[in-house]
Amino acid sequence: MEKSGEIGNSGGMTSGSGAPDAARTVSETEGAYTGRPGDVLLEINHLKKAFQDNVVLNDVSLEVSKGEIVSIIGRSGSGKTTLLRCATFLESIGSGEIRYLGIPAVSEEGGTIRYASREDMKKIRECFSLVFQNFNLFPHRNVLQNITDAPIRVLKKNRGEAKKQALGLLKQMGLEGREKAYPCELSGGQKQRVAIARALAMDPKILFFDEPTSALDPELTAEVLRVIKELAKLHITMVIVTHEMQFAKDISDRIVFMDKGVIAASGTPEEVFRSDHPRMKEFLAGYSA
Ligand SMILES: Nc1ncnc2c1ncn2[C@@H]1O[C@H](COP(=O)(O)OP(=O)(O)O)[C@@H](O)[C@H]1O
Ligand SMILES: [Mg+2]
Repeated sequence: MEKSGEIGNSGGMTSGSGAPDAARTVSETEGAYTGRPGDVLLEINHLKKAFQDNVVLNDVSLEVSKGEIVSIIGRSGSGKTTLLRCATFLESIGSGEIRYLGIPAVSEEGGTIRYASREDMKKIRECFSLVFQNFNLFPHRNVLQNITDAPIRVLKKNRGEAKKQALGLLKQMGLEGREKAYPCELSGGQKQRVAIARALAMDPKILFFDEPTSALDPELTAEVLRVIKELAKLHITMVIVTHEMQFAKDISDRIVFMDKGVIAASGTPEEVFRSDHPRMKEFLAGYSA
C-alpha cells in the first residue's frame, strides 16, 4: 500500500472525495464530556472543508501533544490558514472532527455538524490563543488595555492581577515601559510582540500563529522570531504556520507540509527537509533559489 509522503507517524495523508459543503444544520450536544487524560491537546480527524466547489482541506488529520512545537509549511493556497481557522472555530468544518483535551469540540455526523455543550466550548475556547499575521490590536486602546481586556472580561481576572501579568509579559517580550503606548506608535515588530503578549495573557494551552512575520520587514521579523524561540524554550505548545524555513527547522519538533489541501509530508525537521517527496523538494527549492 502506498502512503506516499507520510514520513512520521503523526499527521498523515489520505485521499478522499472531499464533497463540497452541503447545507448543514448545527446543533449542540447535551451534557459535559469529562475529557480524556493524556498528553494530546488537539486532535483533528479527517477534516474536510470546501468553499463551494473548491476543496481546501481534504481529509486532514493532525495531533498536537503538550509541549510540542509543530510548524505548518506549504505554498500559498494550500489550506494552512483554513486549517488554523477551522481548528480555532473561526471557520465551520465541512466534515470530520476536532477534539481538544479529548473533548469532541465539533464533529460531523450524517450531515449534521455538532458542537460540544456551551460549557465545554467555553472551556475549549479558553485553551487556545491565536496570533494573526496583521496583529489585530485594538487601535484605540493602549498596549496595557490590549493585553488585559480579555483576561479581565473573559477569564474574570482581577484588574491588578491582569496588569501585573501584562507587565511581566511585556518585559518578556522586550517591551518594558511601553504599556501606555498606542498601537500606532509602535513598529510592526513591536505590535506583533504585543499581540503575542496578549495571546499569552489568556494562559493558553496551545498558541497558534498564522504567519506571524509575513507582514514584517526582515529586521523586525528577526525580533519576533526571537521571542517565539524564547517561548519554545519554555515548552509552550505551539502550532506555527510560517514561511521562515530556517526558523521552522530550528524550532520545531515536527513539521507538517501541506500541499493542495492535504498533509503531504510530516515528520521531524530532518525527515521533512531531507524528504524525497517531489512536491516538498519543489517547494523547498523555491526557498534556496
Ligand atoms: N472565506 C473563503 N471563501 C472562499 N474561498 C476561500 C476562503 N478562505 C480561503 N479560501 C480559499 O481556500 C484556499 C486555501 O486558502 P488558505 O487556507 O488561505 O491557504 P494558505 O493559508 O495555505 O495560503 C484558497 O484557494 C483560497 O482562495
Ligand atoms: Mg495563509
